[in-house]
Amino acid sequence: MRLIFDTPENIALRAAKRYSDLLAAKPNAVLAFATGSTPLGLYKQLIELYRNKEISFKEAITFNLDEYAGIGREHPQSYYRFMMEHLFSHIDLDPSRIHLPSGTDVSDAAMHGYEDAIKSAGGIDLQLLGIGNNGHIGFNEPGTPFASQTHLVTLSDSTRIANARFFETMDKVPTRAVTMGIRTVMNARSIIMIALGKSKAAAVHSALFGEVTPSCPASVLQLHPNVEVYLDMAAGGEF
Ligand code: GLP
Repeated sequence: MRLIFDTPENIALRAAKRYSDLLAAKPNAVLAFATGSTPLGLYKQLIELYRNKEISFKEAITFNLDEYAGIGREHPQSYYRFMMEHLFSHIDLDPSRIHLPSGTDVSDAAMHGYEDAIKSAGGIDLQLLGIGNNGHIGFNEPGTPFASQTHLVTLSDSTRIANARFFETMDKVPTRAVTMGIRTVMNARSIIMIALGKSKAAAVHSALFGEVTPSCPASVLQLHPNVEVYLDMAAGGEF
């Protein structure tokens, strides 16, 4: 595991460089993206690189980590809409190569289908992760088995509260979500985790230096051979 401390601006630049290097070497790379406020700087930077013709997503294939259950793609707070708004509609990515879990078909067949689609694409080359205040990755809440694959989850109260800022009222925050499992994430050939701000410091500290345990889902990353963790001073401030 490699730890990189920098400002949020430089983290966005350095992480974006990982994508331009990867896509230059492998134009049809399989990229797994995350939502949340953390990757927004990186997404702006990727759009900038695309506009400057320094990167092309033409042959890339994307999978997203997670999606709320019970809301459709057209819902303003769906992760599909988030990705379209903040990245996909601004770059040359082929819409048929974009994959997010379905929030409306939460059958077992749909979960298996998502895993199969990742496998048929050749597996994930680069997985992007944020981290929840409780150490979650994707929507894999504390206690999720490390062997989990794409599955339906009930969101913890702390996650719903953290995400309530995007919804009009607390009761509009979905109670369930579909997320890639921890094994799905760990199967990626390389992983980038970004954590910004003081509110992430405790989760980051237990994830990187604590016991490897399902109680802190992100701690599983200690077992992955190719992880880069980008931290600003506030998130890395406890060590
Ligand atoms: C959300 C997402 C995660 C994300 C995390 C942190 O619940 N499901 O993928 O990493 O919370 O979000 P933020 O980057 O807004 O702090």
